[in-house]
Amino acid sequence: MVELPAPLLEIEGITKKFGELVALDNVNIKVQEKECLGIIGPNGAGKTTLFNVITGFLKPNSGKVIYMGQNIIGKKPHQLVRLGLVRTFQLIKTFKDLTVMENIVAVNEEETDILKEMGLWEKRNVLAKNLSQGEKRKLNIAMSMAAKPKILLLDEPFAGLSPKEGEELYSIIKKLRDEGLTQVIIEHKLRELFKLSERVTVLNYGKVICEGTPEEVVKAKQVIEAYLGA
Ligand SMILES: Nc1ncnc2c1ncn2[C@@H]1O[C@H](COP(=O)(O)OP(=O)(O)O)[C@@H](O)[C@H]1O
Ligand SMILES: [Mg+2]
Repeated sequence: MVELPAPLLEIEGITKKFGELVALDNVNIKVQEKECLGIIGPNGAGKTTLFNVITGFLKPNSGKVIYMGQNIIGKKPHQLVRLGLVRTFQLIKTFKDLTVMENIVAVNEEETDILKEMGLWEKRNVLAKNLSQGEKRKLNIAMSMAAKPKILLLDEPFAGLSPKEGEELYSIIKKLRDEGLTQVIIEHKLRELFKLSERVTVLNYGKVICEGTPEEVVKAKQVIEAYLGA
């Protein structure tokens, strides 16, 4: 028998309630090292809440998040970043009055070369607030990479980008994946996501309703119904 290695990240029976609302309902997800897992689901499905729980921004009502063999519930976001668990936000977070270079230095002064990889070196002296949306997103990912992640969680990286910016970002994310970075990507733009992810998990009303390859997931009846609001 071939035994799979232990997952890098394992979400076990996570439930998160906001008052009466069950935002995550007994969610179980495994992420293997070096894989790119896609997470999709209608608005309000609980995708961002899941990232908030994994990265220590929210405490779940029950369940475990096992990262590198250890339950990390109760750890603070900055502690998890030091362990290599890094996320980006749906709404881009940069230091807007600092330059591109200063933003990277704020994370890790030894990793400024990341700007070359991200195609941002020419912009290194520009204030973050003066960047285009696509450049801001790249800076955000560059800042995440400067933290030297083992796993990177991306929340809607393609949202609000022009087709050209989206293509550029796609190449960057794909390159990081091909270099062996483990990724979990929440994304509505399925064309991009399905080219990046080997496996996709579908959330609806806080529950995992489907898991499989992109081809399997788009054909699944329960997924079509969730998206059509049936
Ligand atoms: N901090 C919060 N307080 C109360 N309700 C929240 C909070 N965050 C999210 N929710 C609710 O939880 C549900 C899931 O939200 P979210 O995880 O942002 O969904 P998604 O990212 O899939 O669009 C939504 O109904 C949302 O309104
Ligand atoms: Mg969200």
